[in-house]
Amino acid sequence: MLAIASDHAGLPLKREIEKHLEEKGIAFKDYGTDSAASCDYAVFAQRACNAVMSGECERAILCCGTGVGISIAANKVRGIRCVCCSDPYSAAMGRRHNDANALALGARVVGTELGLMIVDSFLGASFEGDRHARRVGQIMAIERGESLEG
Ligand code: RB5
Repeated sequence: MLAIASDHAGLPLKREIEKHLEEKGIAFKDYGTDSAASCDYAVFAQRACNAVMSGECERAILCCGTGVGISIAANKVRGIRCVCCSDPYSAAMGRRHNDANALALGARVVGTELGLMIVDSFLGASFEGDRHARRVGQIMAIERGESLEG
């Protein structure tokens, strides 16, 4: 199950992604917004990311105008590693090397077709572990307030 969320600016791209996932038979749950009225992306980032951290969903796909605000908010949720991507390569490498569990897209940055390619790359790639597991472990240690220097 994927968690999907957006603010008003990300809503059109989110709808396209949902159509795409339906066509591919990939289950998702939409955590809002469902309105074009101006709203605050952090609320929706937190809802979708909480669903990932509770285990209800495996990963989150988040859309706002740039992808920036919603990815910053997502990365404040403990345990979330969100990549903000405008290209399919970074989305795949975010999974392969960084074990990203959330993807953020900018609806005002990428068009529909590129956005869908980015989603497919993210969903199609797997974490490679090994030395990358050590590095991801270091990221999580920073989150716990630990020093990497000692
Ligand atoms: C909303 O206008 C816009 O600021 C928001 O969608 C996002 O791009 C913020 O990072």
